[in-house]
Parts: sequence; structure tokens; C-alpha cells
Amino acid sequence: MNDLFLRACRRESVSRTPMWIMRQAGRYLPEYREVRSKVDFRTLCETPELSAKVTLQPLARFDLDAAIVFADIMTPLESMGVSIDFAPGPVIQDPIRDRAAVDQLRIPEKGEIATNTVETVRILSRELESRVPLIGFAGAPLTVAAYLVEGKGSKDFNVFRSFLYRERAAADELLDRLTQVTSRYLQAQIDAGAKAIQLFDSWAGILSARDYESMILPYVQRIFSSLDGCGVPRIYFAQDAAALGTIPARAGADVIGVDWRTDLRDARRLHGDGFAYQGNFDPARLRTNSEVIESEVKRVLESGGGTGHIFNLGHGILPDTPIESVHTLVDAVRRFSSTGEIGS
Ligand code: CP3
Repeated sequence: MNDLFLRACRRESVSRTPMWIMRQAGRYLPEYREVRSKVDFRTLCETPELSAKVTLQPLARFDLDAAIVFADIMTPLESMGVSIDFAPGPVIQDPIRDRAAVDQLRIPEKGEIATNTVETVRILSRELESRVPLIGFAGAPLTVAAYLVEGKGSKDFNVFRSFLYRERAAADELLDRLTQVTSRYLQAQIDAGAKAIQLFDSWAGILSARDYESMILPYVQRIFSSLDGCGVPRIYFAQDAAALGTIPARAGADVIGVDWRTDLRDARRLHGDGFAYQGNFDPARLRTNSEVIESEVKRVLESGGGTGHIFNLGHGILPDTPIESVHTLVDAVRRFSSTGEIGS
């Protein structure tokens, strides 16, 4: 197996910087759109053979060092009794606005959560055994709760933030239930063969550091500490987290995901060498030209410092990304990081 990604997560020496791409399976790929023209997104996520097929699509095109199971951060919520549509982002049929709605959320056992996705992990970990590691994932409590309460995506999640400050007991109960289910779900993916896990906290940036620390961080810490001793690297990606200061480093992860707004060097200076760092090429820069892409790859590799750096985008790849740009990106990362000029 190509173990560059796992070695980099453990801050061991590598012959070149490994890379994968957040949301690497998706609409920018014609072969993904082809599958989606026949089935809706939910069916795609719920059919192990199809999710496995789509997970492998980007690996057939690009030299990537890890796969990530195809599902959504909202997938495990169906087993808590929540009905979700996708348009294309998640839409909650009955947003959660009070304690009664929270109390109705089921807390399923480990073996009952998103069983189709766990089956996909099982299929893929067999299929990828001699190729690359498979990453399992889940949404972080804040990000998932934000969708559940707001009912859909939003810029600032004003409805959710008001709920969080006003309905303290209900909010705590909601976050507690999500924490229990997320811990079990990640453990189920590890049991099924995931070689690393990532917690996506895409909307971490909607709260102040003070509020995040007192209202959210303890739950994230519980999730990561529930996986202590599981033997797989734990990645925490908090988007737009610059205002959160040292909080991402206190979550209990082994690898800190960094979005495009923060320089990797500054992240390392702030959090120290006790972590590996993942990121952080701005996905919008894939819509330029090869000169711009290549020089930015060089800059990101340099700021990543070599050892303990996993190259990735600073957020998910955009649906209108040209395939050619992804080839340029992947080739540049391989070429520039193999020369030994970058990092030490
Ligand atoms: O990385 C991968 O290749 C695995 C697949 C994956 C998806 N969603 C597939 C998807 C992963 C890891 C996610 C995580 C996810 N989902 C996050 C965290 C990462 C991030 O980008 O911040 C969030 C916030 C969601 C919620 C969500 N689901 C949104 C905002 C959307 C719309 C996205 C868009 O690109 O418009 C979805 C739907 C979704 N999830 C799609 C895919 C491929 C598009 C669905 C389609 O085919 O119509």
C-alpha cells in the first residue's frame, strides 16, 4: 500500500508530499455527472456499489495518495430519524427549533448508523488494500447542528446562533446526541477498515472563540478522545477558524486541516510541531492557468514545510473546476515535492 499519506499524518519522513483533494469525487468529474444523471444523490449515497464506484473515480484519473468514502456529513442523521433532502445542499424537512424536537432524535447503536455507508467502507477497504488508504469522515457537532436548526445552508446561520444562545439546555442536548452518534459512527468506519478519519467543521467560523470554546469545543474533544487508541490518524478541519486561535489544536486531533485564509507557516507557528498540517491551496485558484497554479503549489509546499504536511485544497473542490487544472495541480505537487528542495 502507498503509505505516504499515513506517514505524513504521523509526521514521519516521506519521499514526497502526499495529497488528496477535499470533495475529490463530485460534480467537476463528467463520470460522476454521468452516474448522477441516473440516480439522485440520496440513492447514490445509500447504494454501496455506487458509492464505492464514485469514490474510486478520482483515483482512476489522478495520482492521489488517499481515497475518501463517498457519503455526506448528513448521511448518519437518517438513522436518528431526521428526513433530509438535497437541493444540492442539505434541506431539513422539519428543522429542530425546540427541546421536544431534540428529545425525538434517536441515539442509534453503532451497528445501526448509516449501515450502507459503513458497508461502502468495507467494500472499499478491501478494494484499496494494496493501493491507497481510505479516509472515513463525519460532520462536526456544530456544523451538523447548524444545518438541523437552520434547516438549510446559510451564510451566518442566524437562526441557529440565536437558538444556541437562547435554548441552552436544548442546544446542549442536541450537541450531546450528535456527539454520541458521531463517535459511534466514526468507530464503525474504523472497524470497517477506514485508515484515517476526518471531522469536517465547515461552519466553525460562525462563532466567536469564546462561544466556541465554552459551547462547542468540549463535544469535539469528546469525539476525538472516544477514538484514543484506535490507531488511526484523526484530522480536524475547521473552516474559517482564524478567529478561533488555538482552539483547533485543543480538539484532540493528530492532524490540523487549514483553510486557504491562513498561511500554513502561521498555523504551525501557532499550534507547534506536535501536529501534522493539511491544506491549503485555494480551490478558486484552480480556475486560472497552469503558471498561476504551479507557482502557488510551490508556495503552499514551502509554507507546509515538508515533513508533516499533507497537500490538499483549503476547502472542497468547486463543481466548475476544469479537469486540466487538477492534472496540473497533481503533477506539480508530485514534481516540486520530489526534488528535495522543499522542506526538510
Ligand atoms: O470528498 C468526497 O469526495 C466525499 C464526498 C463528500 C460529499 N459531501 C459529497 C457531496 C463529503 C466529504 C461531503 C462533506 C460535506 N457535505 C460537507 C463538509 C465539507 C465541506 O465542503 O465543507 C458539507 C458542509 C456538506 C453539506 C453539503 N452536501 C453541501 C453544502 C452540499 C452541496 C454542495 C455543492 O457542491 O453544491 C452537499 C451535497 C453534496 N455532497 C454533493 C456531493 C458530491 C453534491 C450533490 C450532487 O451531486 O448533486
